[in-house]
Amino acid sequence: MDLQKAIFERRSVRRFSEEPVPDEDLFAMIEAASWAPNAANAQMWHFVVVKKKEVLEAMAQAIEQKFDQISRQLGFTNELAGNKRNALFFAKAPVTIAVLMRPYESKVNLALKKLGLNQLEIQRLRGQADLQSIGAAIQNLLLTAYAKDYGACWMCAPLVAAYEIEKILGVEEPWELKALIPIGKPADSPGHSSRKAVNEIITMIE
Ligand SMILES: Cc1cc2nc3c(=O)[nH]c(=O)nc-3n(C[C@H](O)[C@H](O)[C@H](O)COP(=O)(O)O)c2cc1C
Repeated sequence: MDLQKAIFERRSVRRFSEEPVPDEDLFAMIEAASWAPNAANAQMWHFVVVKKKEVLEAMAQAIEQKFDQISRQLGFTNELAGNKRNALFFAKAPVTIAVLMRPYESKVNLALKKLGLNQLEIQRLRGQADLQSIGAAIQNLLLTAYAKDYGACWMCAPLVAAYEIEKILGVEEPWELKALIPIGKPADSPGHSSRKAVNEIITMIE
């Protein structure tokens, strides 16, 4: 597929048919993800492919409980209903990929740590290069899914239950869950999306 078409026509898909996704296609998506530019070529990513319904349901249940707990603690009734809905639909996809990251610390990160800077200050001065690398990998994965006629959605809302999901998936330190990506044949056409005009997002210094 033409790269420009994939970039401009890919949309987040949140409803999927039950048709399974062959491993061959999943491998192709993850291989494309692995060719993303990444800090120091440290390849600080790992992809957990979850097809087992019971596991997807356990993850969804953990997220639901977390949203309910937050709402209970804050005395909310319906305030987070939309957010909760947007965190749960992955469980109905035939497959969901959990994207894990192993924090990457360059020599400069370690030097700043030795100087006494805290983690937030170091992140600010180092640009969270590991997390940026994960983002590049996810975009490659999404574009490849789209080129193969699959729908997918990059999801971080489920991370309110990151610790619980990591436990369900057997993720151990130093790995951290960074996103879920449900994938399947789209069950309906995705909603409208738009972008700001290019002149609104550019500052030229000439
Ligand atoms: C880091 C990140 C996290 C996202 N998390 C969610 C999510 O948890 N649930 C969801 O429904 N969409 C999520 N999205 C999808 C965005 O809502 C979507 O990309 C945006 O609205 C633009 O729509 P489009 O992808 O169809 O162009 C996420 C996207 C990104 C990049």
